[in-house]
Amino acid sequence: MAKKNDDFFVKKKAWSVVKDELLGCYLKPYVSKILHTYKPLVYVDCFAGKGKFEDGNDGSPLIALRIIDECCASTKMKSIQVEAIFIDLNYADDLKENLKAYPWTKIVSGKYEDNIKSILRDKENCNVFLYIDPYGIKALQSSLFDYFAKGQFSSIELLINMNSFGFIREACHALGTTFDEKALFDDLVEYEPTKMDASDKSIRELNEIAGGDYWQSIIEAYTKGEINTYDAEVQFSEQYCMRLMKSYTYVLNMPVRIKRGHRPKYRLIHATNHRDGCLLMVDNICNRWETLRGIQSGGQMALWTENYDNQMVNEDDIVAKTLEHFSQCINWTSLHDALAVFFMKHGPICSTGDVKQILKKFEKDGRLAILRNPDMTVKGKPTAFMSEEKGKTVSVRWIN
Ligand SMILES: C[S@@+](CC[C@H](N)C(=O)[O-])C[C@H]1O[C@@H](n2cnc3c(N)ncnc32)[C@H](O)[C@@H]1O
Repeated sequence: MAKKNDDFFVKKKAWSVVKDELLGCYLKPYVSKILHTYKPLVYVDCFAGKGKFEDGNDGSPLIALRIIDECCASTKMKSIQVEAIFIDLNYADDLKENLKAYPWTKIVSGKYEDNIKSILRDKENCNVFLYIDPYGIKALQSSLFDYFAKGQFSSIELLINMNSFGFIREACHALGTTFDEKALFDDLVEYEPTKMDASDKSIRELNEIAGGDYWQSIIEAYTKGEINTYDAEVQFSEQYCMRLMKSYTYVLNMPVRIKRGHRPKYRLIHATNHRDGCLLMVDNICNRWETLRGIQSGGQMALWTENYDNQMVNEDDIVAKTLEHFSQCINWTSLHDALAVFFMKHGPICSTGDVKQILKKFEKDGRLAILRNPDMTVKGKPTAFMSEEKGKTVSVRWIN
C-alpha cells in the first residue's frame, strides 16, 4: 500500500520502533567506545525526517542526540569532539524547530546524494557514522558507499535501511515480469515507493543501486518459476551484502519483520571496516532481540528461544559451528579477528559472549590454547579475560 509521505510522521509505526531500537541501542556503546579513540566523531543522519513524530515520539535525530549527550556527560575523556549533521530534503524547518535544544548541530536542507561528499570532505581522521534511512531505494547508490570506504577516516560505519522487497518489485517491473503486489505488500505501508518501468534507464538505475547486475539472474529465475519472491528477496539480500563486502570487510544483515513469522520486508544492513564495530553490532542485535520479538509478536511469548531470524536457537549447533571455525586457527590468531570472521560466516546467530563461553570450555578441556596479554593480574593471578580492549590482547590457537 503506497502512501504520501505527509502522514509518515503523524504516528510512529511498529517498524520505525524496531529500526530505532537497533539504532539507539547500538549508538550507546558505539559512542562511548569511539570517544576513547581521541578522534572526533561525525554522526550524519542522511534522511533525518522531522526529528520528532507528531504523537510525541522521538525520531532518529532526537534518539541519537540524547545518546550522544548522555555519553559525553558520562565520559571521563577530556576535550571530546562530536559533530552531528542532519540532512533532509523536505523537513529542514521541522528539524530546526525540533532540535533547538541542540544548537551545536548542523541541519542541511537538500538531498543526501548531492550533499554528502562535501559534508565528508574535511573529515579525515574522524570516526564517521552514517545512518541511511530513505523511504524507497532510489537514493541508495552503491558507488557512494564505495566512495565512503575509500575515505581517509579513522573509521567509517554505515547503517542502511534497505527495502529489499521494494527492490525485487521494481526489478520485476524493469525486466517486464509481473509481480503479485497485493500478496506481499498488503501489510506494509510504503511511503514514496520507488517506481520503475521496463526501460534501459530503470535497469541502469537498479544496477547502480545493487552495485552490479547480479540481481537480473535472480529475477530471471523468478520469472521461470524456479524460485518464489521470498527466495528472490533472500538471494538478493545475500548478494547485496556480498557486494558491499567488496568495500567493507564486515557486513551484517538484520531482517526487519512487521509481524512474527512473516517474511522480512526490510533489511537493516551494518557495514564497517572496523572489526570491533561489527562485534558490537552482533551483541546489539542479540541483546535487543527480546524487545524486537515483543514488538513483532504483540507481546506473545514464543514457545522456544529464537534468534534474530525467527529461527529456533539450537545450542548444539552453535557449539558445532564454534568448533568447526576455531579448529581452523592452527596458528595464533587474534580472538576478535576470529570472532568477526565467525559472525560474517554465520550471521549474528548468538552473542559474542555465547561463543566466548564455549571457547572457555574448550580451553578448560585442553583443546584450545588462549594467550592473554597481560597474563597476570596485579595480584599475580593468571588473567582470564576474553576481550581485546585498550592494553589487553587475546590470541587463540587450536590444539586438538
Ligand atoms: C523514512 S523517513 C526518515 C525517518 C527518520 N529516520 C526517523 O526515524 O525519524 C525518510 C526521510 O527522507 C527524506 N528524503 C527523501 N528523499 C531524500 C533525499 N534524496 N535526501 C535526503 N532526504 C530525503 C524524506 O523527507 C523523509 O523525511
